[in-house]
Amino acid sequence: IAIGEVNSLSYEDFLEIFGNVVEKCPLVTAAVWSARPFATLADMEARIAEFIDSLPAAGKAGILRCHPDLAGRDLQSGTLTAESEQEQVAAGLRSLEPADATRLRRLNLQYKERFGYPFVICAGLNDRAAILRQLAERFANEPQRELPLAIEEVKKICCLRLRRIVASDIKL
Ligand code: GUN
Repeated sequence: IAIGEVNSLSYEDFLEIFGNVVEKCPLVTAAVWSARPFATLADMEARIAEFIDSLPAAGKAGILRCHPDLAGRDLQSGTLTAESEQEQVAAGLRSLEPADATRLRRLNLQYKERFGYPFVICAGLNDRAAILRQLAERFANEPQRELPLAIEEVKKICCLRLRRIVASDIKL
């Protein structure tokens, strides 16, 4: 749909269409409803980013905690959101070698123990090798540095999801 149509949606339709642009966080979508009308898709993205940035650290960590593990239980059991499943399958996470699957599971667990939220990376922009490499690298970060990095990934995931819904010629 075009941005003009987005601006004329009812709140219910807006929430239904955009409710999962930030994984399992319809609150973000509900919050940016107040920022309409959006001039462009880039404007809508900026309003979402602004809202996320305005949250205290606990709110940002809460957003990260709404994300499922990459190649985790939900991928196996088919209980991911449609968006997350599509992204994880495209990144090759359903067809991991057993050794990589074990390694990812172990690193995910260690990451969660260290930071208190799951490892989030834009799967649409990273294949499985890049995901494993980034996970090992980011695990070494100080928590103060890791939180904003993880939140930037949430914004990238959001932008890709938005671009699948709203017609645009912007490049990421
Ligand atoms: N990157 C893109 N989608 C997801 C997701 O659903 N979970 C995590 N952890 N990272 C992601």
